[in-house]
Amino acid sequence: MGLRVKSWNHPSIFIPKQLFRPSHSLRRLPSSLHSPSLPTHRKPFARALATAAPPKMVKAIRVHQLGGPEVLKWEDVEIGEPGEGEIRVKNKAIGLNFIDVYFRKGVYKAPSMPFTPGMEAVGEVVAVGPGLTGREVGDIVAYAGNPMGSYAEEQILPANKVVPVPSSISPVIAASVMLKGMTAQFLVRRCFKVEPGHTVLVHAAAGGVGSLLCQWANALGATVIGTVSSREKAAQAKEDGCHHVINYKEEDFVLHVKDITSGTGVDVVYDSVGKDTFQGSLACLKTRGYMVSFGQSSGTVDPVPLSALAPKALFLTRPSLMLYTETRDELLETAGEVFANIASGVLRVRVNHTYHLSDAAQAHADLESRKTSGSVVLIP
Ligand SMILES: NC(=O)c1ccc[n+]([C@@H]2O[C@H](COP(=O)([O-])OP(=O)(O)OC[C@H]3O[C@@H](n4cnc5c(N)ncnc54)[C@H](OP(=O)(O)O)[C@@H]3O)[C@@H](O)[C@H]2O)c1
Repeated sequence: MGLRVKSWNHPSIFIPKQLFRPSHSLRRLPSSLHSPSLPTHRKPFARALATAAPPKMVKAIRVHQLGGPEVLKWEDVEIGEPGEGEIRVKNKAIGLNFIDVYFRKGVYKAPSMPFTPGMEAVGEVVAVGPGLTGREVGDIVAYAGNPMGSYAEEQILPANKVVPVPSSISPVIAASVMLKGMTAQFLVRRCFKVEPGHTVLVHAAAGGVGSLLCQWANALGATVIGTVSSREKAAQAKEDGCHHVINYKEEDFVLHVKDITSGTGVDVVYDSVGKDTFQGSLACLKTRGYMVSFGQSSGTVDPVPLSALAPKALFLTRPSLMLYTETRDELLETAGEVFANIASGVLRVRVNHTYHLSDAAQAHADLESRKTSGSVVLIP
């Protein structure tokens, strides 16, 4: 058995199912052991195990109070041994995502305080929990999503949340594409299914998700319109498959989109910018168009009355990757398609910025001030 990954204008790629089925025999964790990745919050059973041996310390970024990038502190933290259904992973590369900024600022509520941010990493398995089969020390695995805590040299993860990384893909590439690439996958393949003949509008087209989204939508046969804030980002968006690029800092993107589509409007808007673009995005849609509001880099969108959708019978959704990779099968298929598209050349991953993990504050400051493009990776 294997996973046949459809790849539109490329032959489909076969990924052996064993590669993606490591934890089929995993037992579910008792809920009392579902704990954040670092051990300070672990429950009595895990604590008892930890007292048997001297505590192992690793370096991690910790947030003790919400705020600007300066609240990201480089500290020693204790890490225990993996419990049932868990693995300990030594991280090789950690993906930086805008969601990390939301948690740091308190736009989204972290599950504990203090906490270690980060929702994406690639690393080597260095220990497996008792009774776990299908996962071995030395495996290179990737994860994206919950539990939070990837800004650390090592972390403990539920084994059923990780996927194996094909040996042809380096840890840095995998860490820059796991969360962002899976987001692009669910957006163009499942949330609104892009097909040849569609016209799509992608905001922040040169960003981490935006770059992959434009390449993928182009490969699916759509006409892609991208918005960006600078000339350099415009050049990148063009290379990434945008047929039209608009500098939305200097020009009215609604007028441009009307022009480009001869007044018809676009089939779908993928809007991750939020507050600053939401209303304009609605105005860019054709009758019965899809408004996919999947982020708020510029701020939270104001409440939308149903009546705002009525004049064009619009569809509105506010999706999240977590809810599109809820089951193990969804996770494996989504990651499998991303890795297959890298292997076949449909997706080119732009690792435009790398920082040492201890410099996470600088990386956050650069991401928030729109200085970055493509993916940003932290190296422990
Ligand atoms: N719903 C989900 O499941 C999901 C999953 C992943 C990501 N996301 C969302 O997707 C978006 C992109 O994430 P990413 O990690 O790839 O980040 P990113 O796109 O690399 O960075 C954000 C970009 O947004 C643009 N932007 C516009 N106004 C901004 C402002 N006021 N402040 C900061 N940036 C602004 C900037 O591009 P310009 O300079 O070109 O304007 C900036 O580079 C985020 O909103 C994130 O929350 C959602």
